[in-house]
Amino acid sequence: MHILGVYNIKGGVGKTATAVNLAYLAAREGLRTLVWDLDPQGAASFYFRIKPKVKGGSKKMLRGKMDLDDLIKGTDYENLDLMPADFSYRNMDLLLDQTKKPAMRLLKLLRPLSYEYDLVFLDCPPSISLVSENIFQATDALLIPTIPTTLSLRTYRQLLDFVTNNGLERLRIMPFFSMVDRRKRMHTEMMEQLPDHYDELLRSNIPYASDVERMGVYRQPLLEYAPNGTAANAYESLWAEVRADIGL
Ligand SMILES: Nc1ncnc2c1ncn2[C@@H]1O[C@H](COP(=O)(O)OP(=O)(O)O)[C@@H](O)[C@H]1O
Ligand SMILES: [Mg+2]
Repeated sequence: MHILGVYNIKGGVGKTATAVNLAYLAAREGLRTLVWDLDPQGAASFYFRIKPKVKGGSKKMLRGKMDLDDLIKGTDYENLDLMPADFSYRNMDLLLDQTKKPAMRLLKLLRPLSYEYDLVFLDCPPSISLVSENIFQATDALLIPTIPTTLSLRTYRQLLDFVTNNGLERLRIMPFFSMVDRRKRMHTEMMEQLPDHYDELLRSNIPYASDVERMGVYRQPLLEYAPNGTAANAYESLWAEVRADIGL
């Protein structure tokens, strides 16, 4: 079972759109796929039309008193399941802190699922916290949607520092450009310059496209309602690149 986190310290950069669309593509290729919506805002749950609620509460779940299996919901798509968010996830740092080995908690909870799924996407909340540390411990790789601006680059460097300072070098870091607007000079400049400095940068990128925004209207993965647009193609090539890179 491969575990991929879709993560950025910043919010509103396209994490949820990435998790939902890549999970959809993986499932379409026959991989048994799970999305865990870890953001209390519950956007991934919303896109899959599933009520953001953890039965019995997340406290019980995080303490290992609930079988994750009982919390997982099927989606409208074959091979694609969802662990919904819960509003109580906003206190997840506190809840984790009360458990044994708090930084390893999510990994421990996910382990029993390894026979049921080929791939898990963690749709992460923004910020860098105990939840993030859990995510870093649990994942094989982090997909990092990055808007090509100087401020995004700064938070990306903060993440790299965190990874090195916390002995997480085994973690694969996979940044890619997200919400790219080629009419913006800063975007084109950053996209020209950064590949020379960051070997880990993926080649695929996701354009700024209203097709993506409409996921909230249709409450579906983009590939269901606009399968032939530029944005759909971009997610397809991103997924192909990620899949090849992680050797899946
Ligand atoms: N490539 C894109 N083009 C246009 N809008 C996008 C794109 N990706 C995401 N959005 C929109 O931007 C907002 C934030 O995206 P989202 O995926 O929820 O980001 P995050 O999970 O990082 O907070 C949403 O309204 C979404 O529809
Ligand atoms: Mg999100």
